[in-house]
Amino acid sequence: MDDLDGQRILVVGATGMVAGPVVRHLAQHNEVWGAARFKSRRARAALEDAGVRTAVLDLAEPDFSPLPAEVDYVINLAVSHAPSFSDALASNAENLGLLMAHYRDARAFLHCSSTGVYQANGAHPMREDDPLGDNHRAMLTTYSISKIAAEVVARLSSRLYGLPTIIARLNVPYGDCVAWPSMHLECILAGQPIQLIPGEPSVYSPIHSDDIVRQIPLLLAAASVPATTVNWAGPDVVSVQDWCAYLGGLVGKEPVIEYTDAALPSVAVDVARMEELIGPARVRWQDGMRRMVAASHPEIDLVPAP
Ligand SMILES: NC(=O)c1ccc[n+]([C@@H]2O[C@H](COP(=O)([O-])OP(=O)(O)OC[C@H]3O[C@@H](n4cnc5c(N)ncnc54)[C@H](OP(=O)(O)O)[C@@H]3O)[C@@H](O)[C@H]2O)c1
Repeated sequence: MDDLDGQRILVVGATGMVAGPVVRHLAQHNEVWGAARFKSRRARAALEDAGVRTAVLDLAEPDFSPLPAEVDYVINLAVSHAPSFSDALASNAENLGLLMAHYRDARAFLHCSSTGVYQANGAHPMREDDPLGDNHRAMLTTYSISKIAAEVVARLSSRLYGLPTIIARLNVPYGDCVAWPSMHLECILAGQPIQLIPGEPSVYSPIHSDDIVRQIPLLLAAASVPATTVNWAGPDVVSVQDWCAYLGGLVGKEPVIEYTDAALPSVAVDVARMEELIGPARVRWQDGMRRMVAASHPEIDLVPAP
């Protein structure tokens, strides 16, 4: 399955940063439903303009009645950053189980997890069976624990309902949209500090939205019972220090790095299982980040010119 065509697809968290390019692409050839709380009316209108059917869903207290009764595929790209553990566990984990129960007859369910579920271990490239931990506690109190809990709910629901499921642990997404690297770019342009952990380079495996969009049908095709868990990451391991230096070079500004224990630890990943299942991501980080700068700041003459 290279791409999806003529399918009924529900994307939960449809207004999010990762979902944006995904729903726009899928809506070209499929019946796509986008669900979220729609805190932003403008975001909802933009989706509808792109041909996406929208329905309000609050995973804190889900009411599935506005959603289609049946779909072929469900892609869960929602995440709640609620500061209370009981709220975050309910929205991200417990009620994911209700969503999977509701769509138990779907052909496949893609649950987007995070490489922020791994126990921090310096520059070690994380494998899927490496220890889990409270990786993001320094900045996002409930994130890692509720993402780990969500994986368990997805695994159990897959077995309970015989629902083919894939749990894709996403690394740092970026593209021609607001994301962590683009926030770094804005800091560099504004001369503001970028906070990183002291003592070692902060390494990640960033993945471009072109690869995310292209690989979603491949991930759905790899869904299974019991669920498959796989890292979802780009082709290069690169440090934030290196990508900031590169971005700074493109725009002719020196990044300001501030070292603090309150920053996130490194999470680079081993992509062997991913490459075996769905093949490699293709967009190399320098190409992707150069495109990101050109898209978000067309007024800047990049250095050196292409
Ligand atoms: N961004 C990253 O750097 C990163 C890195 C690794 C993994 N991930 C994973 O990638 C996925 C997408 O992340 P993202 O960065 O695109 O997130 P995002 O930009 O924060 O978007 C989150 C989406 O979830 C929706 N949402 C939030 N609370 C909800 C609730 N209670 N009920 C229903 N919908 C709710 C939001 O819309 P409303 O607010 O309108 O409801 C929005 O559509 C998540 O699973 C995340 O853990 C992201």
